Amino acid sequence: MGWGSSSSSVLGLGLVCLVTVSMVWSSVSGIGANWGTQASHPLPPDTVVKLLRENGFQKVKLFDAQYDTLRALGRSGLEVMVGIPNDMLLSLATSVKAAEKWVAKNVSTHISTDNVNIRYVAVGNEPFLETYNGSFLRTTYPALQNIQSALIKAGLSNQVKVTIPLNADVYESLNGLPSGGDFRADIHDLMIAIVKFLSDNGAPFTVNIYPFISLYSDPNFPVEYAFFDGNASPIVDGKATYYNMFDANYDTLVWALQKNGFGNLPIIVGEIGWPTDGDRNANLNYAQRFNAGFMSHIAGGKGTPMRAGPIDAYLFSLIDEDAKSIQPGNFERHWGIFYYDGSPKYQLNLGTTNSGALVKAPSVEYLEQKWCVMRPSAKLDDPQVAPSVSYACGLGDCTSLGYGTSCGNLDARGNISYAFNSYFQINNQLDSACKFPNLSMITKTNPSVGTCRFPLMIKPYYGGAGRLQKLSSSLAAALVLMLLTLV
Ligand SMILES: *[C@@H]1O[C@H](CO)[C@@H](O)[C@H](O)[C@H]1NC(C)=O
Ligand SMILES: *[C@@H]1O[C@H](CO)[C@@H](O)[C@H](O)[C@H]1NC(C)=O
Ligand SMILES: *[C@@H]1O[C@H](CO)[C@@H](O)[C@H](O)[C@H]1NC(C)=O
Ligand SMILES: *[C@@H]1O[C@H](CO)[C@@H](O)[C@H](O)[C@H]1NC(C)=O
Repeated sequence: MGWGSSSSSVLGLGLVCLVTVSMVWSSVSGIGANWGTQASHPLPPDTVVKLLRENGFQKVKLFDAQYDTLRALGRSGLEVMVGIPNDMLLSLATSVKAAEKWVAKNVSTHISTDNVNIRYVAVGNEPFLETYNGSFLRTTYPALQNIQSALIKAGLSNQVKVTIPLNADVYESLNGLPSGGDFRADIHDLMIAIVKFLSDNGAPFTVNIYPFISLYSDPNFPVEYAFFDGNASPIVDGKATYYNMFDANYDTLVWALQKNGFGNLPIIVGEIGWPTDGDRNANLNYAQRFNAGFMSHIAGGKGTPMRAGPIDAYLFSLIDEDAKSIQPGNFERHWGIFYYDGSPKYQLNLGTTNSGALVKAPSVEYLEQKWCVMRPSAKLDDPQVAPSVSYACGLGDCTSLGYGTSCGNLDARGNISYAFNSYFQINNQLDSACKFPNLSMITKTNPSVGTCRFPLMIKPYYGGAGRLQKLSSSLAAALVLMLLTLV
């Protein structure tokens, strides 16, 4: 998630095909959202389901199959894509029994007892990313086949379709234009086998498209081309003209499919969005411009130059996740259209509510109004400062600090306070989590300034087993800090 198509060859663009592509896909229209749960303090699942419904989302995509999450989705009417994490692919690839158990537990039960509207199983998540060094190349397709067999055996194969959310670099363009689109040479045969299997089973191709990542990884990427305002210099590909990267990238896939004999395969855009912090190009303005632009771009149901008709898409993402790996970049924890507490970040009209505005999550409970900051008497050159900050940032979240970020204008003391507070809040405001040796103190005055929000954490949700485990590890972290302090 979030690791996207960085290949600039796919910026390309494409030719209007003379063959009319007949749309065979009768999916519900409407917009979907990705619901990830890698957060120190996830909102209770029932609250998230209300958030989804009140904002008029019709579909939700998950990255796993947590019991509480699915139960909360029961009877909500929302279409659900459940996910299988990459680390389960090996066992599902090698054992039909394991696949049957997975389907029984994580699909059949929820459909029959909780009335969850499960429509897709996402097998793996971007398993062919180059970052994974080919680790999942041999297991993804057999896992897909085993899950499909298990769905057939469970009598669910008409209502539940398999798919694999893929990063957009599984295809590339040989000439830089959409018309040059084909599957990446090193995985070409595998991709054709998968595409044929999806086609034979009436299942869609799922792709994640990220103009932000192109801009992040290529300083020469033309900024305007990432957006939908039509201000970019158009790129002409035969009879088609492209004004934005999304259309060009999507059509590169359409060309790749068509060239290999699968021009009618339905496409789902599994992830699309823009982060709001953690990089100079990740901010509220750009995120709003991108998401609002995307929503109006797809609103008419016009499609792309190569494929007319509605675009089936899931925004990435619903809510920020402060526990995600920042290996892809500090922006990774800031993809939400809502903050961690379910409050909207900016004005966005999804075309689904009367007011045209985002609605915040209902009845969210916060911890006490207090923050941990640097003591006024503490000295910047105190030798304890550096280890304390690095400890706090290591276990807290400092991705809003640094050049071009929301807290990028803090002075040195502000930086240190931000780090201390993040650690303190993530540890549920335990007194022991604000005991940096002679450096920190608790205040009731909100230290937020300008665009820089010092978080005030929400109450932890104790519903699932994973949560309790997480809580005990944060208690352990607080104990370690206490011990450090005593030394
Ligand atoms: C069901 O999904 C959960 C969450 O992804 C996973 O931990 C569990 O192992 C799955 N159950 C089976 C029987 O595979
Ligand atoms: C992939 O390979 C690189 C270089 O050999 C290595 O640094 C990295 O840890 C590997 N990543 C994974 C996920 O195996
Ligand atoms: C604040 O912290 C950020 C990130 O660690 C750093 O880049 C910046 O230089 C710091 N600013 C000051 C004034 O210390
Ligand atoms: C804290 O400050 C006091 C007084 O300035 C000093 O005596 C003490 O050694 C300091 N403690 C630590 C852990 O640095």
